[in-house]
Amino acid sequence: MKETLLQLENLSVHFEVGRKRARAVDRISLSLKPGETHALVGESGCGKSVTALAIMGLLPQRRVHTAGRIMHGKCNLLELEKEKLRQMRGRDMGIIFQEPMTALNPVITVGDQVREAVSIHPDRSLKPGQSPRDRVLELLAEMGLRDPVSLYRRYPHELSGGMRQRVMIAIALACNPSLLIADEPTTALDVTVQKQILDLLKKLQEFHEMAVLLITHNMGVVGRVADSLSVMYAGQIVESGPTRAIFEDPCHPYTRALFAALPGRSQGRSRLAAIGGSVPPATQYDSLPSPCRFFERCQFQNDECHKHPKHPEHSAFCPRH
Ligand SMILES: Nc1ncnc2c1ncn2[C@@H]1O[C@H](COP(=O)(O)OP(=O)(O)O)[C@@H](O)[C@H]1O
Ligand SMILES: [Mg+2]
Repeated sequence: MKETLLQLENLSVHFEVGRKRARAVDRISLSLKPGETHALVGESGCGKSVTALAIMGLLPQRRVHTAGRIMHGKCNLLELEKEKLRQMRGRDMGIIFQEPMTALNPVITVGDQVREAVSIHPDRSLKPGQSPRDRVLELLAEMGLRDPVSLYRRYPHELSGGMRQRVMIAIALACNPSLLIADEPTTALDVTVQKQILDLLKKLQEFHEMAVLLITHNMGVVGRVADSLSVMYAGQIVESGPTRAIFEDPCHPYTRALFAALPGRSQGRSRLAAIGGSVPPATQYDSLPSPCRFFERCQFQNDECHKHPKHPEHSAFCPRH
């Protein structure tokens, strides 16, 4: 059995918003092994990005309260000094975001930006005797980008969305991190490019034995690449388990609604038309019904909803099965 690389244990992230509390992430647990892809799935506003930022140590400094543990190997990232955490970013974990244009610097060439990432931890990035420039060219080629030498001198706005995302992946992987967090990496891309980027991530992951936490609202993406998944709703994980088990037998009505939103299954209806409504802002979570925050939007709600029996093969919150 491989050792767990990342383990979230009852992780909570609360923001102070005026006199209110936004419990954006509320006691979530999940784990990830080397070489594994775990998908974190849910509609916009569920707490997926806040979870990613918490792992990376990139949450705002003020008016934030965290609880629980984020174990990376034997180290609890929530207790780590800022400087140590900074060193771990890039070397041990990298992140890519939905819109690479906002993450890339518009006035610095592609090559120099990747080079900067390479130079943070040269001991991890460069092979013996290799120059940073050669490493950049190698990385760009590894990302499937053609003509790395001329690409090196170009600026982000000269690239297509798919190429920019490949550059972002090169930056995230420059120092061979053991964990990659991909936060909606293909949402801004059209379907063909989406597939290419997912295939690239899969190939790189297998090659580098990397663990990937893939954040998405799209069950189709999950089915293509994830080994296991957690479905998140209003700051909580409502269902988690192996991808195959959940695809064959989704338990929570929210998980089913995410499936129903897939093109082809929704018969042309808009996203989550099956249930309507949207995720309330995190400042309102305290006034949602307990224990099931999805209760008001759920078409199967009844008196049993306060109970939480376990599904035999994967863990789910809901008795509707
Ligand atoms: N810095 C912040 N201060 C207050 N609330 C925040 C902050 N960041 C995120 N939130 C709230 O936390 C909730 C989850 O946000 P987020 O993790 O970005 O959702 P997702 O990535 O699933 O779309 C939202 O209600 C959002 O408004
Ligand atoms: Mg997000």
